[in-house]
Amino acid sequence: MIQISKNKNIEKSLIIIKPDGIQKRVAGKIISRFEDAGLEIERMKMIRIDEELAGEHYKEHRKKSFFGSLLKYICSGPVIIMVVRGPEAILKSREIMGPTDSRKAPSGTIRGDFGEDITVNVVHGSDSPRSAEREVRLFFGENF
Ligand code: CMP
Repeated sequence: MIQISKNKNIEKSLIIIKPDGIQKRVAGKIISRFEDAGLEIERMKMIRIDEELAGEHYKEHRKKSFFGSLLKYICSGPVIIMVVRGPEAILKSREIMGPTDSRKAPSGTIRGDFGEDITVNVVHGSDSPRSAEREVRLFFGENF
């Protein structure tokens, strides 16, 4: 008998393809990685993030030494913002992105294949359902 799971834990995650992803012309490949992982692209737009929006998005890092360079980098060029949706979307996205520091990310992960270091790390993904909710509201201004 076929078992149909009722507990698929459908989640959303806010994904940013950072300026280096656009500049290296790998945005399409990155989007495919999320689709190939079984996630649906629910929203997508290309924008240029200003310092105010960047500061709000990364506000948990406000006191960190790298906050200034993080903001400067994310505001340095256009980015693609997406909402991906599907079973375990947050964990799945983090798995396919790889560790935050691209130098430690194995090949086959997005950061391992396309990132450079801990700042120029090609993608951002929400780290929890609570962050996802806040970030989707921040960038798309709509009900989660
Ligand atoms: P991101 O996934 O966008 O979320 C927060 C970002 O802060 C992270 O990617 C990194 O680019 C950056 N970051 C986190 N830790 C450090 C660190 N120790 N030094 C420099 N940048 C960091």
